[in-house]
Amino acid sequence: MTAAIETRGLTKSYGRSRGIVDVDLVVEAGQIFGFLGPNGAGKSTMIRLLLDLIRPSSGEAWVLGLDIHRDRLAIDRRISYVPGELSLYSELTGRQLLTYLGNLHGHVDAAYRDSLIERLELDPFKRIKTLSRGNKQKVGLVAAFMIRPELLMLDEPTAGLDPFVQLEFERLCEEARSGGRTVFISSHQLPEVEHLCDRVGIIREGKLLAVETIADLKARALHRLEIDFGGPVDAATFSNLPGVRDLAVTDGTLRCTVMGSVDALIKAAARFEVHNIRSIDTSLEEIFMAYYGSGEAADKTAAGEAGHVAA
Ligand SMILES: Nc1ncnc2c1ncn2[C@@H]1O[C@H](COP(=O)(O)OP(=O)(O)OP(=O)(O)O)[C@@H](O)[C@H]1O
Ligand SMILES: [Mg+2]
Repeated sequence: MTAAIETRGLTKSYGRSRGIVDVDLVVEAGQIFGFLGPNGAGKSTMIRLLLDLIRPSSGEAWVLGLDIHRDRLAIDRRISYVPGELSLYSELTGRQLLTYLGNLHGHVDAAYRDSLIERLELDPFKRIKTLSRGNKQKVGLVAAFMIRPELLMLDEPTAGLDPFVQLEFERLCEEARSGGRTVFISSHQLPEVEHLCDRVGIIREGKLLAVETIADLKARALHRLEIDFGGPVDAATFSNLPGVRDLAVTDGTLRCTVMGSVDALIKAAARFEVHNIRSIDTSLEEIFMAYYGSGEAADKTAAGEAGHVAA
C-alpha cells in the first residue's frame, strides 16, 4: 500500500538557523499520526514542506505517493490543511466562507458539512472577525473535514479548543481513520494525543528522534517502586538487579526506579516479608519529556539504550 507520507533526507535550512534536518519518515495510510515536539522543533516547517508552501534545501518527499512539488495540484485536490496560525476572510460569516471554499473544491456534501458545524458547536452566522480563537479554529476544522480528504494535515489543531469540542474533534479523527483516511496532527503535548494516535514521531531541534507506537513507548517505561518490608533489608541485595536504578533503602522501605520489567526486583523482594508495594507509573510522560530536554538523555532514549532517563 502506498504510504500517505514519505520523506527521504528532507532538510530545510533557513540561512544559518535550521528548520528540519535530514528527516526520513513514513506515515502509513489509514493512521492517525502524532508529530510531537517543543516550540521551534520544526513541526510547522515539516508540514509546510509537505504542502509545497516552502521548498526543501535537500531531500525528497511524497504525499499519497505523489511528488510534493511536481504533483502539487493533484495532491491539493486530495488533502486538507489547517495551519497553526489560521487567517480567514474576516468579513465573511463562517457559513459564507465554508460555502465559498466548498464551491472552490466542488464536491461538498452539504448535509455532512452542516453536521460538522453542529457537532463542533460553531455558530455559522457570525462574522469571522467576531469569533474567538477557538471558534475560528472550528471554521478551519469544518473546512478541513467537510471535503472528506484522503489526508488531513492539522498543525496544532487542538490549540484553543475547549474539552468538549476537543472530544468531538477526536471523534472526527477516529471516523476519518475508520473511513481509511490519514490524519497527521502536530502537537506539543503527548497527553493530548496519546490516546488518539496510532504512532507518534518526536522531533527536536529539527531532527526526528523517534517514531514509535504508543505501546512501544510504554514498553520502555520507567516505574517508580516503593516496597515496605517487615524489617531491615540490605540494599546490596537489590542494587545489581536488571533495570534497577536510583536505589535507596531507609527504615525498611526500598525506593527505586525500574526500567522495563519489574520481575527481577519483585522476585528478589519476595524472599523477605513484604508489607506493601507502591508503584507510580508516570513514565510515559517522563520518557517523552526526556526527548524535550536537551542533550544526552533524549539521545539515549532515542537509541533505545537502557540509560537512566533524566527529565
Ligand atoms: N521563515 C523562517 N525564517 C527563518 N527561520 C525560520 C523560519 N520559519 C521557521 N524558522 C525556524 O525553523 C525552526 C522550526 O520552526 P517551526 O515553525 O517549524 O517550529 P514548530 O515546531 O512548528 O514550533 P511551534 O511549536 O512553536 O509552532 C525554528 O528554529 C524557527 O525559528
Ligand atoms: Mg508550529
